[in-house]
Amino acid sequence: MVTREISLPDGRRLSWAEAGPPDAPATIVWLHAFPLTHAMWQPQLAAVPPGWRAMAPDLAGLGASADHAGRPAIDDFVRDVEALLEAMGAGRVVVGGLSMGGYAALAYQRVAPGRLSGLVLADTRSGADSPEGRHGRERMLGLVESGGAPAVASEMLPKLVGSTTHARRPHVVAEVRRLIESNPVEGIRRAIMRMRDRPDSTGLLRQIRVPVLVVVGEEDAITPVEESRALASALDDGTLAIVPAAGHLSNMENPDSFNAALWPWLGGL
Ligand code: MLT
Repeated sequence: MVTREISLPDGRRLSWAEAGPPDAPATIVWLHAFPLTHAMWQPQLAAVPPGWRAMAPDLAGLGASADHAGRPAIDDFVRDVEALLEAMGAGRVVVGGLSMGGYAALAYQRVAPGRLSGLVLADTRSGADSPEGRHGRERMLGLVESGGAPAVASEMLPKLVGSTTHARRPHVVAEVRRLIESNPVEGIRRAIMRMRDRPDSTGLLRQIRVPVLVVVGEEDAITPVEESRALASALDDGTLAIVPAAGHLSNMENPDSFNAALWPWLGGL
């Protein structure tokens, strides 16, 4: 795995990691959750299927990527990935996102659907925030202001990973905390605003013309299994994979099972 950086057309820095041969015939781009970084995809970058190249950017304002100026929007993430893929001369790709990354992956269908050859929607949802959810965002904005990234980590960790991980995988819990605390407060703040203000993408589901793998951890307390089942069945070509003994961060908590669901699906594209 190597970490790279480019300067986007507007001069901002975009950082990403990649693995697999750069000239591989197929590419998958992984979009990370809130408030993490590209490094959450390490288990997938370490196990790229033959014939594939994998890329995982730091989304704007998080990790080592610089943010846009002006009002933050979830589509900013898509525009940056598009700029990266254009710069790489990439063709169609599979875009995979987990939770906030899934909101951005769905936004791809609105912003640049022609780029997609498939979608992986992991531990995510198509709907916008409910009034209660928006209230929670305001609370989180207050928390990041008063306590910074460590306070956000302490608030989110109990729900971000499942009970099995809390009981048996302390290294995963420690890594999630480390990634959250590595993020700048301003990037976390603007990511919260992006999620709070994202549009409802449910209407887009029927427009998706490519296969979609919907993945969910069986212990996911944020986007539960039943919600993912409904998401998969709202799609023309949706496949549901339930990752055992994993919560919301299913790819980090049980990477072997996550990858075991992913590989054959990618192979069938
Ligand atoms: C995430 O994991 O990206 C967040 O839980 C998403 C959200 O807060 O809506």
